[in-house]
This record gives sequence, structure tokens and C-alpha cells, in this order.
Amino acid sequence: MILTAKSIKERSLLGLKELAASEIESILDRASHWDKQEEKLVPVLASKFVANMFFENSTRTRFSFEMAEKRLGAEVLNFAAAASSVAKGESIYDTVRTLESMGIDAGVIRLKPEGVLAQLAEKVKVPLVNAGDGNNEHPTQALLDLYTMRQSFGSLKGLNVSIIGDIKHSRVARSNLWALQKLGANVTFCAPDMMKAPELEIHAPYISIDEALKADVVMMLRVQLERHDKGIDMKADEYRKRFGLTVERAAKLNPSTIIMHPAPVNRNVEIDDAVVESPASRIFPQMSNGVPIRMAVMERALL
Ligand code: NCD
Ligand code: ASP
Repeated sequence: MILTAKSIKERSLLGLKELAASEIESILDRASHWDKQEEKLVPVLASKFVANMFFENSTRTRFSFEMAEKRLGAEVLNFAAAASSVAKGESIYDTVRTLESMGIDAGVIRLKPEGVLAQLAEKVKVPLVNAGDGNNEHPTQALLDLYTMRQSFGSLKGLNVSIIGDIKHSRVARSNLWALQKLGANVTFCAPDMMKAPELEIHAPYISIDEALKADVVMMLRVQLERHDKGIDMKADEYRKRFGLTVERAAKLNPSTIIMHPAPVNRNVEIDDAVVESPASRIFPQMSNGVPIRMAVMERALL
């Protein structure tokens, strides 16, 4: 297939930090088009081959990409590192080059090591879509989060969004911060000291949990245990008491405040069980919204 009008770079989605506000908005608008579409299968990507390459675990992101690609009629190849030659030591680069050699038209990729995605994007000749890049960015998660906020509030301009939890290790916080700031929202963070990231390039004011809960959107994050090499100096119960969205805290939220979480949720640690299921929670709509968002992103990559 020859891609002409748009360059590979314009088709790829590596992060939101570098994406213009107008581009972000056009993806959200296109997702809204797909969301309204009653036909389950609209095969505009028929005969396009997409490889979903997950070098890190995933449930939601992987299945919603696959759902989105299949709804658009693409041919889908699923690659899971544990079942591949990566287990024998083959590098991410060689794995991606292998699939590229076989003729895929686009690759969706999730990986752990810092900086590898950017290097891959320089070398690979098909559009790449970031499905989670180490601690760095998770653009499609942030896009579906923005979409969910827009569904509740109409516009993001002037919206107050608090992101609470493991800011330091969260690619979700990064992508959301950059996109929300571009679209005119006010972002604040709340985190235990060991999960703050003052030295990193993400800048938003850190505030107390009581202050953070006054926002229009309260976005809770999972403690990314797998990324804490020195372990954590706080038991789950203490974390819940100090930073968790408990039933008691949720009762004090403004009636219009919505609760979000990218999932997987550690119930009764960062959010109480009953709060996950409460009317203010948008956690399951976020998962639903992942499909139209990823349809828009794959269409942008391939058409
Ligand atoms: C996040 C991720 O994998 O970065 N979740 C997701 O994609 N839905 C956050 C997390 O794992 O806590
Ligand atoms: N947060 C990851 C993802 O959505 C892991 C999971 O869902 O289980 O891909």
C-alpha cells in the first residue's frame, strides 16, 4: 500500500504533548461520529492489516483496539510478548521489523523501556500508535478521558480536573495533563511525596486531597507498583485513608463532580468499592468510550 497525502508521522500517534489542540479536537469529534454509528461493522478499513503488539500486559487497551479495528473491518494480528520469540530474547525492534516485513499497514504498540517507541518511529515505515509507552505517554487513554469529560460537561475549557495518585509513574497523568492544558482545562495534582514528580517535565500545582476533591473531575490513579523499584513505604490501608476516594469523601463531592479512573482499579485502595459503582463514577463509560476513540485513531492512521 502506498500512503500518499499524509505522511507516516501525521498518521502515527506517539503522544499528545506534540499534538495540536485542533488535532486532538478533530479526533474527539470523529470519535463522536463513530459513537453515534448504529451499525456495528463499518468496513472502511477492509484489507488493511493491523498488528497489535503488546510487550506489556493489558486488558482494556488491547481489547478496545481490537474491537475498534474489527468494527472498521481491518484484518487484525495480535502479538503477545510472552507467546513470541521475545521470550527467547528477540528485541522489540526486530519484532516490529518482522511484522513490518510481512506487510502490516499499521502497528499498535505497548512497551515498557523508555525511549524505544521514539526510536522505532524513526526507523519503521508504517504508522505506529502508542498504546502505552513506559512512564511516558498513553495518548489513547487520555483521548478517551477527554471524550468522557466532554460527554459530561460539553466543553473542557475552564474545567477543573484533579489527578490523584501515582503521578510520578503515570503515563495516563502525563498525556492527560498535556492535552487538558492545551484545551483550556485547569489541572491540579495530589499525591504522596514518593509519588510526586517535581523533577519531571509535568507541571501542575500539588494540592491536598480535600482541595482536590472540589474539582469538576476527580481522576484517581492506581499505584503503579510494578514501576516502584524501591517498593512503597505505605500499606494499602494507610494509602486508602490518606489518598483514597472513600465512601465518606465521595459523599462530600459536588453533585456534578464526576469520578474517573483508567483501570485496572484496586478496589478499596484508591477508590472504595461502592464508589466505583456509584452514579458519579464514569469508570465503565470510559471503557466504552475507548472503542470509538480508537476507531478514530485507527482511521486516522490508515485512511
Ligand atoms: C493504565 C496503563 O496501563 O497505563 N491503564 C490503562 O491503560 N487502562 C493505568 C494502569 O495500569 O494503572
Ligand atoms: N491498564 C492496562 C490496560 O488497560 C491493563 C489492564 O487493563 O488490565 O491496558
